[in-house]
Amino acid sequence: MSKQTDTNTLWGGRFAEPTDQFVQRFTASVEFDQRMAAEDIQGSRAHADMLCAVGVLSDAEREQIQSGLDQVAAEIAAGEFHWSIEREDVHMNIEARLTELIGNTGKKLHTGRSRNDQVATDIRLHLRAAIDAIGAELTRLQRGTIGLAAEHCATIMPGFTHLQTAQPVVFGHHLLAWNEMLERDYGRLMDCRARLNQSPLGAAALAGTTYPIDREMTARALGFDRPTANSLDSVSDRDFAIEFCSFAALLMTHLSRMSEELVLWTSAQFNFVELPDRFCTGSSIMPQKKNPDVPELVRGKVGRVNGHLISLLTLMKSQPLAYNKDNQEDKEPLFDTIDTVLGSLRAFADMVPAIRPRAAQMREAARRGFSTATDLADYLVRKGLPFRDAHEVVGKAVAHGVASGADLAEMSLVTLQGFSDEIDADVFDVLTLEGSVAARDHLGGTAPRQVQAAADAALQRLSARTQ
Ligand code: ARG
Repeated sequence: MSKQTDTNTLWGGRFAEPTDQFVQRFTASVEFDQRMAAEDIQGSRAHADMLCAVGVLSDAEREQIQSGLDQVAAEIAAGEFHWSIEREDVHMNIEARLTELIGNTGKKLHTGRSRNDQVATDIRLHLRAAIDAIGAELTRLQRGTIGLAAEHCATIMPGFTHLQTAQPVVFGHHLLAWNEMLERDYGRLMDCRARLNQSPLGAAALAGTTYPIDREMTARALGFDRPTANSLDSVSDRDFAIEFCSFAALLMTHLSRMSEELVLWTSAQFNFVELPDRFCTGSSIMPQKKNPDVPELVRGKVGRVNGHLISLLTLMKSQPLAYNKDNQEDKEPLFDTIDTVLGSLRAFADMVPAIRPRAAQMREAARRGFSTATDLADYLVRKGLPFRDAHEVVGKAVAHGVASGADLAEMSLVTLQGFSDEIDADVFDVLTLEGSVAARDHLGGTAPRQVQAAADAALQRLSARTQ
């Protein structure tokens, strides 16, 4: 028997000639879907147990299959499994090896199932495990971010709009803004998990199967909440992969925003923070350089993740029901998204708690940028001026400051009174940076005591997580 005829034993009955060698390589997925081997075996175990429970397999056959799968799993774990392109994908490689090991009983495993429901089950199991790992890394990053925020509830820095100095804030407040983005990402991740956690097993090729299968049993065994409701949808649905990639695109967008700020802040021009050397590299030519590689690389990785989202959306667009071979193209974008997100989160979770803010530089930058101008306007409003008039008065004072090189707090009382006779000596309380932040003393504001409370609340939310 030639090698190629042997190749087609899984469907060879109908075929008069072997698959073209190039087509065989072109259509094979084993090179990338072998990473779902553990889930494939897990699914097969649940299926075999169920077939036995409903009387399709005998106890002896069930046991033979389970111990054969033990051996297959051991070979894979030991790196001794021979993956073969001729066996196309992870499912057929494992089934064929099982049959080599235990003989004809191995051929019974595929009773009442198809690779279509098998692959849908494997991807969901694989992605669910990845989601749990990603959830744990995200939680670790949030814990580190909140921890750093709690240490810097009174560390003053300039807050920006249009990247121009706007009003003073505390560094902890800025970090907790990052945490809010991540908190929403975590919520989206868990929503995705809840929707994907249904078992397609039993949908078979597309229409279900004639055997008396127990789909509740396999769903339970695999930790799914319930079986999916419609067999056609079960084998064709890839919403969960798209939903995950949407989550990932948004998370990576957030990490890129954090990255961008770190890149700016570590520059000599800002000099707001220092990253430990272990997260940076030097230049081969410029001895003075210390480049923020980790944030830059994470910022750059958004591109591929956004690309994968578009790949999957385009893959599914206009696909007729039910399974189409197109769907084999779902795996590489999905797997790369998982790996990219996990790597980026790991780097950030390690790096963020190690950020060392330069409090004096931040404070100086806040002081220099007329960041308490709004406070002066609010002061004049409290003295009875309409806000628009107060805005005008302060605008003139700032123009004077720009011309003379003095910040508002550095002008004499007489100079300030030249702009409005409503100004008294108590004005200096509001012109200080500490006075400015302390005055924003409400839920969500930057007053140190509010930021402290927000950090505590954020930590509480993390502790309430079950995943
Ligand atoms: N390797 C295939 C995939 O990844 C498995 C399902 C193939 N089913 C089929 N009828 N060709 O989608």
